[in-house]
Amino acid sequence: MSLIDTTPSTPGKFKSEKCTPYSAHPFYRNLRFQSSLLKLTVWSSSFLGLILLFFLISSPPSSHHHGRRSTEIDVGTKWETKVRTSAETRARADGGKPLRVLVTGAAGFVGTHVALALKLRGDGVVGLDSFNHYYDPELKIARQKFLANAGVCVIEGDINDEKLLKRLFDVVHFTHVVHLAAQAGVRYAMENPGSYVKSNVAGFVNLLEVCKSADPQPAIVWASSSSVYGTNTKVPFSEKDRTDHPASLYAATKKAGEAIAHTYNHIYGLSITGLRFFTVYGPWGRPDMAYFFFTKDILKGKEITIYETSRGESVARDFTYIDDVVKGCLAALDTANKSTGSGGKKRGPAQLRIFNLGNTKPVPVSRLVSILEEHLKVNARKKVLPLPSNGDVEFTHANISLAQTELGYRPTIDLETGMKQFVWWYLNYYDRSRKN
Ligand SMILES: *[C@@H]1O[C@H](CO)[C@@H](O)[C@H](O)[C@H]1NC(C)=O
Ligand SMILES: *[C@@H]1O[C@H](CO)[C@@H](O)[C@H](O)[C@H]1NC(C)=O
Repeated sequence: MSLIDTTPSTPGKFKSEKCTPYSAHPFYRNLRFQSSLLKLTVWSSSFLGLILLFFLISSPPSSHHHGRRSTEIDVGTKWETKVRTSAETRARADGGKPLRVLVTGAAGFVGTHVALALKLRGDGVVGLDSFNHYYDPELKIARQKFLANAGVCVIEGDINDEKLLKRLFDVVHFTHVVHLAAQAGVRYAMENPGSYVKSNVAGFVNLLEVCKSADPQPAIVWASSSSVYGTNTKVPFSEKDRTDHPASLYAATKKAGEAIAHTYNHIYGLSITGLRFFTVYGPWGRPDMAYFFFTKDILKGKEITIYETSRGESVARDFTYIDDVVKGCLAALDTANKSTGSGGKKRGPAQLRIFNLGNTKPVPVSRLVSILEEHLKVNARKKVLPLPSNGDVEFTHANISLAQTELGYRPTIDLETGMKQFVWWYLNYYDRSRKN
């Protein structure tokens, strides 16, 4: 998440035609701050008092300050209309009461699919996404356009922006929040540890603060991760197992999120459901995940690396197809009790849940590669290395009986079928972007 603050990019590049960002790009805010700081330093030696007086009687000396103000008002009305329209509900075919849902990370992989599924069944959906540079923002913009065609507006903004979140809750009385915005990835934490804290801890707290003050308080469903099981060896992983041996900073911040969720549930009566996702894959997936960059590299004829455990076995993952995960997310929303607080105070005990959303069938990564070779009709050039101990765990395997009982969750797509869908999407998507 923090990349957007540290990497000045062409502002406006991420502005969609359909949804104008609410506030100026953070880059502008930094620029304004830096320029006033510079002025202060230059003059301070002799004219500090005078300068302070100057600052007091006249507004900061930049014309674009005034410019921004008026844009903000212009953007404000249009922005509000777009948010309201996106949040409109229809009668649901399944007879359920339509929800009004804020989806954070809506231009992300899971976020896009969840937002679309909600909109298609009649719920009102507003998306929020920071469009950061952790992976190709063009893919996020393409997902945003895809959602815009379905009537879902994804506005650009950061979950750390309290003013923006409050404004969203002023405009729409969200009944539910699906919080999927996060800094993902296991090995990237060694490069940019701060981004995990900023997004998965500070951002989550900011969101919960706004939710607990909202009237009515929404019910929250959010993405935890199977990585909280860390170096556990007892399989399958059950929700009641210990989760205090995280193997990566990513896992540690997700575990922190679960503890923070407990606090906000306990003190403020927020209804909160955490979902521990197990290696979710499918069309519109994340380029930083192995199945995605394996596909890219196999097509390019580039060598791919498969890791094996100390026992000489291929690393295994409980790959879970996106449509199955979406069903689990929607079931979590539909079975969520209302939050019990109001005016920032708890009025009674509220629901706090954690579910594994996996597939219960771990597949060795070497088997994944064979499936990709088959669908791509290309042989991979493979290199096998021992798994480095920098965050990745040797295997994941979900016990999903709790989600089965409480959510009616039943994954149906096997890796072979699901990867076929992914490869089909991948070839179409990258063929089209090459032609454009
Ligand atoms: C959730 O709602 C159901 C039905 O109203 C109720 O039986 C249950 O006790 C509630 N659970 C919690 C934890 O509030
Ligand atoms: C799966 O979890 C349930 C509790 O949700 C537990 O009763 C069951 O024994 C677990 N199954 C296995 C195979 O560990």
